[in-house]
Amino acid sequence: MTDHIRIERRGAVQIIRMNRPDKKNALTRAMYAAMCAALRDGDADPEVRAHVFLGVPGAFSAGNDLADFLVVATGGEGGDEVWDFLMALAKAEKPMLSGVDGIAVGIGTTLNLHCDLTFATPRTVFRTPFVDLGLVPEAGSSLLAPQVLGRQDAFALLALGEGFSAERAKAAGLIHAVVGEDELESAVLAAADAVAAKPPQALKIARDLMLGPREPLLARIAEESDLFRQRLKSDEARAALMAFMNRKK
Ligand code: COA
Repeated sequence: MTDHIRIERRGAVQIIRMNRPDKKNALTRAMYAAMCAALRDGDADPEVRAHVFLGVPGAFSAGNDLADFLVVATGGEGGDEVWDFLMALAKAEKPMLSGVDGIAVGIGTTLNLHCDLTFATPRTVFRTPFVDLGLVPEAGSSLLAPQVLGRQDAFALLALGEGFSAERAKAAGLIHAVVGEDELESAVLAAADAVAAKPPQALKIARDLMLGPREPLLARIAEESDLFRQRLKSDEARAALMAFMNRKK
C-alpha cells in the first residue's frame, strides 16, 4: 500500500494520480503495484468507463525511481511490479487518458504511448534518457514510438534522449492537445467524461480495432524487459545510476 498513488472516482471516470511531489513523482515498486491494481480493478468494474492518469503540478513523473534501479544494478532483488504494470497498460480494456504537466521522463513519457488521448501543458518536456543510463527503451516504446512518431523522431526520443516540448510532441503525434496549466485537469476530465458517455460496446470495438492485435506489443514488452534487466546489471548502467545518486554531493 502507498499513499503516493491516489485513486479517485468521478462519475464513470477513474483517476489514477501519481502523488510523490518531493521526488517529482519518481515511481517506486509500490506505486507501480497500486497503478496496476487500479487498472485491473477499473477494467473489471462495469461502472468505470475510462481511466485518467494525472500527476502533480510541474511533475507528471520523473520515471522509475533510480534508487530502486540501483538496488538491482548492485545485485539486489527487483520484483515484478514494473512488469505487471506494463502488461496491465498494454492489456487495458478501457480507454486511457493522461494529463501531463512539466516533467515527463522515462515511463512518464512512454506511458502516454498507451493512452488514447494525452493533454500536456506548454512547459511539459517529454524525455527518455534510457541509452544515457546504459538502458534500453521499455513499455513497448521501441515498437510504439516508431509507429506513432516515425522512425527518425522515435530515434531522437528513445536513442538520443532529446527532449520533446509539448509543441513538438503535438506536431509529432505523441499527444492530442496542448492546454494551459490552469485548464489541464478540466480539459482531461471533460474529455474523459465525453469518452465515458459513448456507447461502451461500440467504443470498445472501435478502440480494439485501432489498437489491433495486442500480441506483438506484449511480446515486445517481454523482449524489452529481458534486455532491460540485463542492462541494469551492466557497468554502463551502474556508472550512470551512481552518477545520478552522487550528483549533489
Ligand atoms: N528517481 C529517484 N529520485 C528522483 C528521480 C528518480 N527518477 N527524479 C528525481 N528524483 C528526486 C531527486 O533525487 C531529488 O531528491 P532530493 O530532493 O532528495 O535530492 C528530488 O527528486 C527532486 O529532483 P531534482 O533533481 O532536485 O529536481 P530538478 O527539477 O532539478 O530535476 C529531473 C528534475 C527529473 C530533471 C531530475 O531529477 C532527473 O533527471 N531525474 C532523473 C530522471 C530519470 O533519469 N529517470 C529515469 C528514466 S528511465
